[in-house]
Amino acid sequence: MSIVRKSVCASFAKAFGSPPALIVRAPGRVNLIGEHTDYNDGFVLPAAIGVETLVAASPRADGQIRVVAADFGDAMDMFALGSAIAVRDEPMWANYVRGMIKSMLDAGFALCGADIAVAGSIPKGTGLSSSASLEVAVGQAFKAMCGLDTLDPTRIAQLAQEAECGFVGMNCGIMDQLVSARGVAGHAILIDCRSLATEPVPVPDALAIMIVHSGISRGLVDGAYNERRTQCEAAARHFGVAALRDLDRRALDCGKTRLDDLTYRRARHVITENARTLAAADALRGGDLIRLGQLMAESHISMRDDFEITVPAIDALVAVLQAAIGTEGSARMTGGGFGGAVVAMLPADRVEAVTALVSAKYQTPEGTPPHIMIERPAAGAGLLV
Ligand code: GLA
Repeated sequence: MSIVRKSVCASFAKAFGSPPALIVRAPGRVNLIGEHTDYNDGFVLPAAIGVETLVAASPRADGQIRVVAADFGDAMDMFALGSAIAVRDEPMWANYVRGMIKSMLDAGFALCGADIAVAGSIPKGTGLSSSASLEVAVGQAFKAMCGLDTLDPTRIAQLAQEAECGFVGMNCGIMDQLVSARGVAGHAILIDCRSLATEPVPVPDALAIMIVHSGISRGLVDGAYNERRTQCEAAARHFGVAALRDLDRRALDCGKTRLDDLTYRRARHVITENARTLAAADALRGGDLIRLGQLMAESHISMRDDFEITVPAIDALVAVLQAAIGTEGSARMTGGGFGGAVVAMLPADRVEAVTALVSAKYQTPEGTPPHIMIERPAAGAGLLV
């Protein structure tokens, strides 16, 4: 039994005095390419990964919800389905559970009360979507407890995104929740964030996905994230289109004269990143690591110079990785930005050499070598027992 599963079972038994009726899991994710494109109706290419959030739950007949967090000293949150569900100042983890339950109720799903324990293996503050996986796991748990057969994984992801935007106040796109809900083992998932169509793209065994933690915690960056979203929406309005997805590079450059430089660069990132994401999915399908590497490197430059969401330490870490990897594969910052993790794709037989080089050449702000994870794409959320 995994450590996380032991931990969630132990917390549940300690808090509620019996074993849970069920346990569900929902994975974290790493985004290979397609950053800040999801809320512009664009394309993303993430993969679900082995680290995950587990939710152990049993239904209750009285409409009460009790939630215990194994990773936060078994702290407990309690509320009733029959009363208004309010945002809490802290603990923050409680809001992801509250928000998801509220989204489901608002959408008209009849929920039962529940005792719930939560535990996870996703390192916090690294941008690997611990919050999205918690929301999706809560959705899956209620689906199983309440027999909500019409609730498919995409709908769970939409409700989770609503929880994040409407309740938590982070105006995220659909990527993290959708890949956590719809991941496929051994595959990256090409998502069209307008139609929500998902297409699994095989990741060959010979290709390693390496995640390197910069040691710079993402912290409270929702403000900067929401600001980027507002800037993208302003650019779309300027061109009279529903979203930046509807513009290509030519149309952008034709309307450039009447656009301020900052808004132009924000839009250029999104438009070029959409094109890179589709090209990267092709390169992955064709096993073209050199092309994939070029696209990842260009994506990082665009995030650094046009979207301005990287930080100097992340740029340095990406440079170290790129030098160590060479032309077959590359590295880029992954996730919302301003810290967190870097993703690299490289031939599996180069992992040892690249790990040694990066550990020798990059130090976290604490002066330690970075934490490195080697991941295979995992399956999406589902019932564990
Ligand atoms: C965060 C958000 C996602 C997406 C990424 C950036 O992870 O939750 O919706 O916008 O940032 O690509």
